[in-house]
Amino acid sequence: MKSSFARPCIERLRPYVPGEQPKISGLIKLNTNENPYPPSPKVLAAIRRELDERLRLYPDPTSDRLRARIAAAYGFRLDQVIAGNGSDDILTLCLRAFVDDGAFVQFPRPTYSLYPVLTQIQNGKTREIPFDDDFALDPAAFDARASLTLVVHPNAPTGTPLPQDFLRELARRLKGVLVVDEAYADFANENALALARKARNVLVTRSFSKSFSLAGMRLGFAVGDAALVEALFKVKDSYNLDRLAQTAGVAALSDMPYHRRCVARVVRTRERLRRELERRGWRVVPSQANFLLVRPPGRPAGQWLGALKIRRILVRWFDQPETRDFLRITMGTDRQMDRFLSVVDDLG
Ligand SMILES: Cc1ncc(COP(=O)(O)O)c(C=O)c1O
Repeated sequence: MKSSFARPCIERLRPYVPGEQPKISGLIKLNTNENPYPPSPKVLAAIRRELDERLRLYPDPTSDRLRARIAAAYGFRLDQVIAGNGSDDILTLCLRAFVDDGAFVQFPRPTYSLYPVLTQIQNGKTREIPFDDDFALDPAAFDARASLTLVVHPNAPTGTPLPQDFLRELARRLKGVLVVDEAYADFANENALALARKARNVLVTRSFSKSFSLAGMRLGFAVGDAALVEALFKVKDSYNLDRLAQTAGVAALSDMPYHRRCVARVVRTRERLRRELERRGWRVVPSQANFLLVRPPGRPAGQWLGALKIRRILVRWFDQPETRDFLRITMGTDRQMDRFLSVVDDLG
């Protein structure tokens, strides 16, 4: 008798492990790249207004109002935009739409650890391209025949940006689709939206979880060539965004001054923390995201993780050869980072 009813690729699958969401309060949570500031008050008010008997009705299956807002805000036509239940939903759609059974998907290493999981669920093959010592990538190292190429700008968990000329050259070489995952791009100096407007094979994915403080809402989108977006529409769940999420997205995009203030605060905190840690002899990888990848001195990074946790500070540690010596620290409020630094000094 069969030992499992799961497909062989699911039987072998090691599922994605999300960062810890603690059940107790009072911790300083610097482990999953959430925003330390609340969403815009306009978002909270809009959600409250939406909470009535209309919840018995299905939401708009194609999130038209939200997509129209996104199109206007980022300079795309409506048919070049798809919204999803977090950008993870959009990434899943990309795998479903562009990766056939046994086809291959390539991405740098280290990068977002969901990519190998999504590839395996689709029964695709993975190919990983290592960053060099300066976290740079050579377009020639990528295989032009991959069905799907995934890159993160700025990369996670390193925070390092991908230069625009690298992305243009990569898109030009590839025969398949290039997805530039810009979950953190609002914290960066540049983005790939202009490339997504021009190139036939490029999609940019965005998230409301980080810069818009809406991780709990689950909201993301992709923009790019209309034919690519049409393929994603074909494979999405009928109602992939609920009514409240659509409303929240529209309201968030109508309060861009608030968004810009939050982003600027996070970037200022990041630069302050970088200086403070460098002064204490930590290696800090140059980041354009809302987190820093840092190599602490003195004791192994895995031990720092435990020592910080005992003092009620959660950070992230990835137990892989390239990242084992590092901790990833999400930017909190300035007060939280002061507390983090005082704990670092105590432990130092
Ligand atoms: C690189 C990257 N892409 C996508 C996501 C998922 O974002 P969302 O919350 O929009 O699904 C994350 C979340 O941490 C991420 O790090």
